[in-house]
Amino acid sequence: MAGILTVHSPEGEYRLVIERGVARRVSGFSAHPRVAVTTNTTIAPLHAQTILDALPTGRLVTMPDGEQYKTLATVEALYHDYVRTGLDRHGAVLALGGGVVGDTAGFAAATYYRGVDLIQMPTSLLAMVDSSVGGKVGVDLAEGKNLVGAFKQPAVVLIDPDFLVTLPEVEWRCGMAEIIKAGLIGDAAILDPSLWSPTRAEDVIRRAVQVKVGIVEADPFEKGVRAHLNLGHTFAHALETVTEYQWRHGEAVGLGLIAAAHLSAVMGLCDAALPEQVGAWVRQVGLPTRLGDVSADALWDAMATDKKWRAGRSRFVLIHGPQHVTVVEDVPRSAVIEALDKVR
Ligand SMILES: NC(=O)c1ccc[n+]([C@@H]2O[C@H](COP(=O)([O-])OP(=O)(O)OC[C@H]3O[C@@H](n4cnc5c(N)ncnc54)[C@H](O)[C@@H]3O)[C@@H](O)[C@H]2O)c1
Ligand SMILES: [Zn+2]
Repeated sequence: MAGILTVHSPEGEYRLVIERGVARRVSGFSAHPRVAVTTNTTIAPLHAQTILDALPTGRLVTMPDGEQYKTLATVEALYHDYVRTGLDRHGAVLALGGGVVGDTAGFAAATYYRGVDLIQMPTSLLAMVDSSVGGKVGVDLAEGKNLVGAFKQPAVVLIDPDFLVTLPEVEWRCGMAEIIKAGLIGDAAILDPSLWSPTRAEDVIRRAVQVKVGIVEADPFEKGVRAHLNLGHTFAHALETVTEYQWRHGEAVGLGLIAAAHLSAVMGLCDAALPEQVGAWVRQVGLPTRLGDVSADALWDAMATDKKWRAGRSRFVLIHGPQHVTVVEDVPRSAVIEALDKVR
């Protein structure tokens, strides 16, 4: 089932195409004289040739693989490669990869020549349903993740589920955490586990993307409802920080969703069945559902540095029930520790 969405953003509309094989039809979406096909050294040997064969104006530019390369140093290296490949302001950057490539190449596209067109071509499940949609691009600093960035709406987003054939299973599971999140925020149909097999990827991706599009259209600059996309993420970011990224983002999000549901129950927003149900979904996709020996105090301290906490006041996205999410401030530390104890 093909899906074409038109996304409305403050800078105009763009198309988002979800269709098997759309990567091979990329030339239909680009009239640029030069396209810098930007990917990493893992994805290049797997998928770059498909794009280069389909796009005569394309030239390959690679960056190393890994979150630790989502930096300004990599962005600078990309700029030099873009100059070398003859990219000028009429050209485009095509980001072929997971969220790391999308965010890094996207930030380069937002700034090179004061901004060139950006074609997002996500290859990981997470990038397909989350990072390629919504216009946020950026890089990490040593002091923290995503501290430097921009809003850069893509010219087009091309989502080809065929890329997922080579995606490592652990990355599939991580993407599923964001899909469960999308279901909890905005689409009950996503929460039907019979949809969660790679063979039905297209359908579940389309639904999850629709949830994200609906939210970013309503709140393109993250002033209100976009915060709902952070369901589970206050816990997740703390877990990533405290474990020095031994927990992958999607693994941390899965646990974070369960913890957020427990916290909602502790705060009296939902009944105790909800955290059990969320835990069952997370377990079903094969993600961890227990914290193990990670210290609750250390997690709280890490949360307190969250960019979204204003003037030291705690701020959590909590949940009354599926598709009924809310932002709560001044959640007491004791409630958070109690919720964490339930996922111990
Ligand atoms: N901009 C946003 O709105 C937004 C939203 C969510 C996450 N993010 C960012 O996204 C990043 C995480 O993205 P991710 O989970 O895609 O991680 P990633 O980009 O590191 O990709 C995960 C791994 O899978 C590999 N890979 C990707 N596609 C593949 C394929 N088809 N075949 C084989 N290997 C493949 C990558 O090389 C990498 O090793 C983080 O930096 C996060 O901050 C951004
Ligand atoms: Zn996330």
